[in-house]
Amino acid sequence: MIKLKINNKHLVIIKKCITYIDGYLIVNKTYSLPQNYGKKLNRKLVKAFNKMKKDALKEEINLKILSGFRSFDRQKEIYNNYIKEDPKNADNYSARPGHSEHQSGLAIDINNASDAFINSNEANWLDRNVYKYGFILRYPKNKSNITGYKYEPWHYRYVGKKLAKKLYNNGLWETMEEYFGIESKYL
Ligand code: DAL
Ligand code: ZN
Repeated sequence: MIKLKINNKHLVIIKKCITYIDGYLIVNKTYSLPQNYGKKLNRKLVKAFNKMKKDALKEEINLKILSGFRSFDRQKEIYNNYIKEDPKNADNYSARPGHSEHQSGLAIDINNASDAFINSNEANWLDRNVYKYGFILRYPKNKSNITGYKYEPWHYRYVGKKLAKKLYNNGLWETMEEYFGIESKYL
């Protein structure tokens, strides 16, 4: 196990090749997961999603999980297909195997993973409310140079209510990269 501090502020622990900062598992272009890691969605995430779905329905907002846990091998298939079709841009929207948050079981795509979802009632509702349930908008608009990915209003990461509220930042989403002072770049 390796322990170190970022700016004397955040505690980084690397255990079995997995990086945790202040206890939060980190996956992005810099930090990856081992090939055999993960098997299903996190239980707390599922519980939080179900509560959110129920509350959203009261406001006639229909939510469903479109994509949840994805194994290393499944991500490899998806990424390789995108690379074949769109070699120049695929890295801006599809993670390389080992680098997808979906492999952690802590991320979900909700309803519609395409640009048609941008500014829909559901996307707007999620933007304003997910933090109350412990989710963060992981790839906010205008933060592509920081997260390494274009705007994805359907992809939410479960971090729990405390950090979600901080990162929601009264509607001006802050990224995990900014908050923890880390990079997202393939080495
Ligand atoms: N679309 C996100 C970045 C993923 O492939 O995990
Ligand atoms: Zn996603």
